[in-house]
Amino acid sequence: MSALFQPFSLKDITLRNRIAVPPMCQYMAVDGQANDWHLSHYAGMARGGAGLVIVEATAVAPEGRITPGCTGIWNDDLAQAFVPVVKAIKAAGSVPGIQIAHAGRKASANRPWEGDDHIAEGDARGWQTIAPSAIAFGGGLLKVPRAMDLDDIARVQQNFVDAAVRAREVGFEWLELHFAHGYLAQSFFSAHSNQRDDIYGGSVENRSRFLLETLKAVRAVWPEHLPLTIRFGVLEFDGRDEQTLLESIGLVRQFKDAGMDMLSVSMGFTIPDVAIPWGPAFMGPIAERVRREADVPVSSAWGFGTPAIAERVVKEEQLDVVMVGKAHLANPHWAYFAAKELGVERASWTLPAPYAHWLERY
Ligand SMILES: Cc1cc2nc3c(=O)[nH]c(=O)nc-3n(C[C@H](O)[C@H](O)[C@H](O)COP(=O)(O)O)c2cc1C
Repeated sequence: MSALFQPFSLKDITLRNRIAVPPMCQYMAVDGQANDWHLSHYAGMARGGAGLVIVEATAVAPEGRITPGCTGIWNDDLAQAFVPVVKAIKAAGSVPGIQIAHAGRKASANRPWEGDDHIAEGDARGWQTIAPSAIAFGGGLLKVPRAMDLDDIARVQQNFVDAAVRAREVGFEWLELHFAHGYLAQSFFSAHSNQRDDIYGGSVENRSRFLLETLKAVRAVWPEHLPLTIRFGVLEFDGRDEQTLLESIGLVRQFKDAGMDMLSVSMGFTIPDVAIPWGPAFMGPIAERVRREADVPVSSAWGFGTPAIAERVVKEEQLDVVMVGKAHLANPHWAYFAAKELGVERASWTLPAPYAHWLERY
């Protein structure tokens, strides 16, 4: 019996297996709007058999896009553009999720294949970034953000709430808040990027405030019966990880009390040039610790895209759901091939019936 191919239920949603396609920016939108590329891409991901497909980091406000090619959901027209995507994911038997995001000081960047750095000063494609403090990220992201005042904070939190309402209106059934990867929320949590001296900075309680308030406000509008998850960087690999992990686990417990249903365990990416111990499943033991100490279901990504590894981390109860990213870009039918490799009986039934029927016959 494969552990990876057991269903997984969270609130009223049941995934057909423990495989998820994590949010992966496509950088193909125009003025925030999803288009034919997104439909083709997400339909393919869902057809391949994954239980959950989470649509890429989608900005809650124009200035929250990472690049000019990022999707947005800051008005109803942009939300409507996701309707075909949602329908296509559901038609293939997968659950449609979306990650809503604000890129903070990492916004206004060039697409990865066009530089992956900040859009140059004076280039009309760029915009003023905002962050908890006026500190640039570093590396190729040198734009100095404007420090947010209390009105900015309230406005962005309302942007998240409005985005959640729109996501539900167009049929998404799984909502993920992007509180990871050095974007706005993560940069409130980290003392590297948050040097405020008001109630949003300083102590860990204050650095957690933006995240907790945003979660509570979103939970109030996102239906109770549908999963609300958070992607959060629980450590930075900056040499002080035990302390960061303890602070993070404390916050994750508060997320849970405030209505978060599951955590996607990731890294902070708040400062450049850190020593990340890349390797297969390296986040597994960290995710397992968060799962155990905060007593929450977890998923994680980064190097789980080999069937035997994905199977093992579920069997060993490190992860409840396995995020398989780049391996899905290479092979959208990853789940089907994983089922075959793991000896799942009638592996083809990971696929929709019009494919499965024939693959079972001859
Ligand atoms: C093209 C691309 C775009 C990504 N965009 C996002 C994103 O929108 N939100 C996010 O949280 N992570 C994003 N990530 C990170 C992935 O979700 C995932 O964590 C990463 O690819 C590692 O998993 P893998 O080893 O299975 O590929 C992106 C990764 C890639 C390769």
